[in-house]
Amino acid sequence: MIGVMNSFDFVATDPAILWAEIVDAADAITAGEADAIANMANVAALIWQALPDINWAGFYRFDGRELVLGPFQGKSACIRIALDRGVCGAAARTRTTQVVEDVHAFAGHIACDAASRSELVVPIVVKDRLIGVLDLDSPTPGRFSAIDAVGAETLVTRITDRLSSHS
Ligand code: SME
Repeated sequence: MIGVMNSFDFVATDPAILWAEIVDAADAITAGEADAIANMANVAALIWQALPDINWAGFYRFDGRELVLGPFQGKSACIRIALDRGVCGAAARTRTTQVVEDVHAFAGHIACDAASRSELVVPIVVKDRLIGVLDLDSPTPGRFSAIDAVGAETLVTRITDRLSSHS
């Protein structure tokens, strides 16, 4: 690691460029570290620092049966989510990214923080094994665009091995 560990600056206002900065920072801060929990904690902190207009950023880990709360930033949240529940469950079950413009219109949405109005959830899959999900929430309806979805998927793909303890 070069210089001060937490000296990442995020200056871009263009979402695609901002995500490129986040991905590079996440790559740098997780490089050479095998502990998935530590890496998830730092990546949640980076996203929280960098992304405007979000009220929750973090991870749920798949324990073989259901999703269990992992490292995050934001208000305390639901601890366990079955795969047939919520936006996180849908992303984990289908292994596809979920962009929900209005969580009130999503059947089964789990309201951990009543302020949340839109949500982006990216599944984390390593060697065909479900590891968990990256979950971002916003108080603004329609906050997450296709650019945000691609950015978050790129982030997960870039460091996916470092988010799994067993890869
Ligand atoms: N809203 C999510 C639950 C997790 S919290 O937002 C942190 C869902 O419906 O899966």
